[in-house]
Amino acid sequence: MQNERSTPGELRVAVVGFGWMGRVHTLAYRRAVEHFPGLALRPRLTAVADEVPGRAAEAAALFGFERSTTDWRTLVDAPDIEAVSITAPNFLHREIGEAFASAGKHIWIEKPVGVNAADARAVEAAAATAGVTARVGFNYRNAPAVRRAKRLIEEGAIGTPTHASFRLLGDYAADPAGAFTWRYELERAGHGVVGDLAAHAVDLIRYLLGEVVDVTASGAIFIGERRRPSAATTGHVRVETGDLIPVENEDWSASVLTLVSGAKVTLEASRVAVGHQNDYGFRIHGTRGALEWDFRRMGELLQAAGEQAQDLPMATVFTGPGDGVSAAFQPGSALSLSYDDLKVIEAEGFVQAVAGVENADGADLSDAVSAAEVLDAIAASSESGARVAVAERVAGPVR
Ligand SMILES: NC(=O)c1ccc[n+]([C@@H]2O[C@H](COP(=O)([O-])OP(=O)(O)OC[C@H]3O[C@@H](n4cnc5c(N)ncnc54)[C@H](O)[C@@H]3O)[C@@H](O)[C@H]2O)c1
Repeated sequence: MQNERSTPGELRVAVVGFGWMGRVHTLAYRRAVEHFPGLALRPRLTAVADEVPGRAAEAAALFGFERSTTDWRTLVDAPDIEAVSITAPNFLHREIGEAFASAGKHIWIEKPVGVNAADARAVEAAAATAGVTARVGFNYRNAPAVRRAKRLIEEGAIGTPTHASFRLLGDYAADPAGAFTWRYELERAGHGVVGDLAAHAVDLIRYLLGEVVDVTASGAIFIGERRRPSAATTGHVRVETGDLIPVENEDWSASVLTLVSGAKVTLEASRVAVGHQNDYGFRIHGTRGALEWDFRRMGELLQAAGEQAQDLPMATVFTGPGDGVSAAFQPGSALSLSYDDLKVIEAEGFVQAVAGVENADGADLSDAVSAAEVLDAIAASSESGARVAVAERVAGPVR
């Protein structure tokens, strides 16, 4: 069906899956116009879908979507919808992504794009065949400190990066009373913490340091059973009663990655790290310096750069308007952005890309496929104990 061109200057969007990310995408569409007045198209909240009765209707009432439904399929061929946020659980990414892309809708889809690389490749192929634009929810690359780190690495400020460590530690699954949701099932989540958190690290590694050649990994499940919730969930909820179900995917993963450059990277991800909430970050070591970032101190980058190899001091730099698109939010330094702001930046990249703006920001499906291939290699190596080569593909340059 032919998509209607909506009111000139508008982009009519739908959101499918109104849990945590559905809400964050919705707010990002609303705020993108205010932070980026030059936005080529103004997002218009046209429809919202969620299978839980009442959830989409509530979202429509609160956020101003023009209509709501419990069945996303009714939106696929809707001529007034031009773009869609796919913020449902992983196992639906492929089906929903293929359907909307094939119907000519542009897609902003959450990571990891399906449960494995085959799913990510299928969505990429559907988008390419239909000629639609896509952006993927790898939001941490939007942090001004990460942009600053990328610029410094490209300028050679830390010499040649030789080794690095990336960590994504969380406690969202540390409570044994945490309900058995889609996140713990192979069929509906795919990987465990590897798809949930390590996916972000792999994107950051590719973004900052380049492609991954091979992986040696280990994984473990520490909480082997969880209780099935009796009602629909969103996010992470606790349940005290209900059947105990075996957890099917890993709580913890650690791997050593070899990059095309020859650099070595360690990556640790945990969803059961008691005492560590959203403890995400990296340390990158080069021949003439080092960089360190902690997501929880988003506006700070630790930098050591200089000629001396020993006793080089490390300074804390507060990011400012010159770092990434920080200026769209704050006029001075040391005024940190928030998690939601990273999604506003992602929304801007998506809308600009849809409008055909050259060099529009953001991770695309090629990035999602490349990351997914690394995640599959991590899972395969954890299973076999052997070093696993990352599947070859003709990936575009990492921007
Ligand atoms: N980029 C990030 O930082 C980030 C953070 C969290 C989650 N995510 C990703 O976002 C996605 C969603 O995660 P979440 O935390 O928002 O999950 P969530 O469980 O909070 O929300 C998922 C929503 O999808 C709905 N849903 C399920 N089946 C549906 C169907 N058939 N049709 C319509 N709606 C359906 C659920 O009812 C729920 O409201 C996942 O793929 C996850 O990996 C990304």
